Amino acid sequence: MSTHINAKPGEIAPTVLLPGDPMRAKHFAETLLEDPVCFNEVRGMLGFTGTYEGKPISVMGTGMGIPSLSIYVSELLNEYDVSTVIRVGTCGALQPDLEVGDIVLAMAASTDSHVNKIRFHGRDYAPTASFPLLLKAYQEAIDRGLKISVGGIFCSDTFYHDDPESWRLWAAYGALVVEMETAGLYTLAAKYGADALSILTVSDSLVTGKRAPAEEREKSYTQMAEIALAVAS
Ligand code: HPA
Repeated sequence: MSTHINAKPGEIAPTVLLPGDPMRAKHFAETLLEDPVCFNEVRGMLGFTGTYEGKPISVMGTGMGIPSLSIYVSELLNEYDVSTVIRVGTCGALQPDLEVGDIVLAMAASTDSHVNKIRFHGRDYAPTASFPLLLKAYQEAIDRGLKISVGGIFCSDTFYHDDPESWRLWAAYGALVVEMETAGLYTLAAKYGADALSILTVSDSLVTGKRAPAEEREKSYTQMAEIALAVAS
């Protein structure tokens, strides 16, 4: 048991898929894993371990934002035998050619968070994906005939920014999408010598103001989850 996860040693698989929403983790486990068993209910941050094609896989919610994700990922990597962490989340498009439902692989995560400024005494750190995981996810998406984009993303500490146009600077420097967790995930994976990847589906576009209807969100989420499972297995 760790401070925020009440799983016993061995109850969490070496590979953990990480949606932000714990109810997503439940749905994911119930629909895509075989024989899922719940290993965590502390603070409602549900986690499950089941199998996929015979291999144990866990799925657990992280909550929203770097601080919440960092608590769970630190404990998974430091106190359980977890070595691969794959975020399966949503994001907002910052580029006009990205549409709701598209899938994005985050190669690197720029951020306005000060978490790494604190960690590195004011210096910059470049949180990057595991290349083998990135390559595998890319190939899986191509094999499935899916539209896939790979590149840098913007990891924000604010969902409701005082300046609603502030994302445009990040977009001008090529960030594909905005979300709120990946810079924390990639940094912690580096710290603990683990492999990490964020696979994201576009749920809304800051460029066009479009939002994915529930049905479309479900479809693209399933495609993303299938890529994550193929990478994990
Ligand atoms: N901002 C931050 N995170 C997000 C967004 C957004 O617009 N959409 C999905 N995750």
